[in-house]
Order: sequence, then C-alpha cells, then structure tokens
Amino acid sequence: MPDAPQPTGLILGIESSCDETAAAVVRRGTETLSNVVASQIALHANFGGVVPELASREHLRNIVPVVRAAIAEAGIRLQDLDAIAVTGGPGLAGALLVGITYAKALAFGLDKPLIAVNHLEGHIHAVLMEHQQALTEADPDAPILALVVSGGHTHLYLAHQKSSGQGSAWQYRNIGRTVDDAAGEAFDKVAKLLGLDYPGGPWIDHLAPHGNPRAVSFTFSPIKHRNPAPETETRFDFSFSGIKTAVLRYTQSHAMQGTIENRRLTTRNHKLTTENTTHLVQNGTIEPQSLDLLASFQNAVVGSLLKQTFAAARHFNARAILISGGVAANSELRRRFTAEAAKHALPIAFPSLALSTDNAAMIAAAAWPKLMAKDFAPENLTATPQLRLG
Ligand code: KG4
Ligand code: ZN
Repeated sequence: MPDAPQPTGLILGIESSCDETAAAVVRRGTETLSNVVASQIALHANFGGVVPELASREHLRNIVPVVRAAIAEAGIRLQDLDAIAVTGGPGLAGALLVGITYAKALAFGLDKPLIAVNHLEGHIHAVLMEHQQALTEADPDAPILALVVSGGHTHLYLAHQKSSGQGSAWQYRNIGRTVDDAAGEAFDKVAKLLGLDYPGGPWIDHLAPHGNPRAVSFTFSPIKHRNPAPETETRFDFSFSGIKTAVLRYTQSHAMQGTIENRRLTTRNHKLTTENTTHLVQNGTIEPQSLDLLASFQNAVVGSLLKQTFAAARHFNARAILISGGVAANSELRRRFTAEAAKHALPIAFPSLALSTDNAAMIAAAAWPKLMAKDFAPENLTATPQLRLG
C-alpha cells in the first residue's frame, strides 16, 4: 500500500465577503507564499459604496483567475494543499456564497478538508501571523485585546489561546462593539458628505494633516443600547453615527454646499497619492474650512477608539493590544495608539498595510490552528451574513 502523503502545512485561503476577491497560500499559519487580491473599489466608487449585486457578479468573474494566480505564485500544485479555508461570514450573502461554493467544489474535487473561518477572526490573525511571539512573550496565558475596525465592523475582543492535545485553538470574547455605524463607515460617509470619492478613509488620512484637528469640537453622547447588557458585564461599546450627523449639520450651517458640489466634480476618479492631495490643497480645491473639519473628525474618531480600547485594556488587564481591519491603516491611529501603548508599557501590533484591508492570507492563517484541531466545516456549510465572533 502506498504511504499516506506527508502533510505540507499548506492552506489555500479564499475570501469574498465584501468587495475584494482574494486567495492566498500560507504555510503553517505564518509563512505567506502568495497573497492575491482583486479589488472592486473602482467599480463601486461610481456608486459611492458597495453595491451587493454587482459585488457578487464581480466575485464570480474573478474567483477562478484569482485562485489560479495564488497557486501559481506560491509555486505549488493544488494536490500539495493540506486544506482549503474559506470565509463563512459575516459579510454580503451573495458575495460570501461565491467563495464558499467554489471552495466546497475544490475541496470535494481534491478530497481535502474544508475549513470555515469567521472574517473577524481572520482580521485578528492578520496581526497574529506576523506578531504572535511579540504579543504573547510577556505572558502567553494572559488575554490579548483585539480591536477590529473596518468598513463593516468595530469590535473589541479578548483573545485567548487554549492549548489542548490537538494543538492550540483561539477563543474570543466580545467586550465592545459599535451600536450603530462602523468607524470605517463613518470615514466613508463623512468623505462623501465633503465631496470625496469612495472609500473615504484613505482620503481623510491624506488630507487631515493639512487641517487643524482642534478647529471643530465634537462630543460623543452616551451610548444607548437597544438590548442592554446584564449589569454584571462591563461593556466598551462605540457609536459613530452622531459624529457623521454633526459633520452634516456643520456643512449646512456654514453654507459649504456649493464648494462641496464643485469639488465632487473636480476630484471624481482622482487617483489618491500624496502629490495629488497636496496639489488639491494648494490649488484650493480642498479649502481650509473642509480640511479643518476633516482633521477634527479624524481626531475625534481616533480619540474615541483610543479611549475605549485603553479603558478596556486596563479593566481586563490585557497584556498586549492588536489592531486590525481597514481603519488600522490610518496613520494618525497608528501614531496615537503606539504612543499611548508606550506610556503604559503595553506591547502593541498592527498588520502590515497589505494585510490591514481584506485579504485571504489572514483566512489561511486563522485556519491553521483549526486544521491542527481537525475543526472542519460541515458538508452543508453555507453563508452566514450576520455571523458573530465571541
Ligand atoms: O477591512 P476592510 O478592507 O473591509 C471591511 O471588512 O470593511 O476595510 C475597509 C474600510 C473602509 O471603510 C475604508 O475607508 C477604511 O477601511 N480605510 C481607512 C484607511 N484605509 C482604509 N480608514 C481610515 N484611514 C485609512 N488609511
Ligand atoms: Zn474586513
């Protein structure tokens, strides 16, 4: 009888929860052999946000070439894989189904196990795959505090690694979430209000240094819970819809509409680079009043994320902090969180910029402990758009 094939530790990750079709090959949860992302940003920019129906069609178009490219770039054969991992949720139902259906067919055809990964756990592993040792070396048993902050999510989790005979599985407990808009959503909506293209986060990041972050003061009202948590549980929730409304009121009360509409036409489909934004500032397309408003908005949002995260770190005696998701790419956020962590002598880590936004390397990395624990997806796996973590 031929010997059973030796495990290679290679996992193919597939991600299609929102507007990126992505595939990656990662060895043993840490070594990235390939990481391919087909972004739909240009398609959705024309509509000022993600259009679910268009996203599904685009995933369908991209999934085969993206997976092929990931396998080719990794220099492996499909048969070399130990498992296929796919995002099961949360996300857009039709978009998730494209990745799930393709991953199921591939796993079935190759006779390999299929592993379902929660997209939010994926974001956490985007950091762990690069920084796990630095984050756990102080005390491997203490919780790591994870802030996942993106266009669809703003969550705080306590992450623990529990060792067992089968490897070491990660466990999560949600201790905070936004009660309305996600932070990235607030960035995108405020940018749109001020006549800037989708996605607005990177635009605001580039423009804010040209404005005065103290020009407009925003206050965060107390958070109203629809389903209050039991009194025994201390929560560290967020709310970002009020600040978006405050920005809208400011533009109305300062009669900024005309300037904003002119700018919307001038900056449409403008490529976002430091030179381009500097030029738009110098020629007055983005005038000082808007720059001050954007800088003040970013200052307030980062301030709110910082306050809740460090209060939670103190409360739960977290040994380290990790930040992930698209908004983790924000320069002011990285600067202020790094400075605050240094004050408290807390290790802190961010993903590399390529792993901050949606990608499949993080899905393959999160699947590695599940492969060790033989935690495989059921045959009837389907999309779970509202899937929770912890
Ligand atoms: O993680 P991601 O790619 O997709 C979701 O799971 O939502 O995050 C996309 C979000 C968008 O809202 C985008 O505006 C925001 O991340 N974003 C940023 C920056 N880069 C991306 N927000 C602030 N500053 C940035 N540099
Ligand atoms: Zn994401």
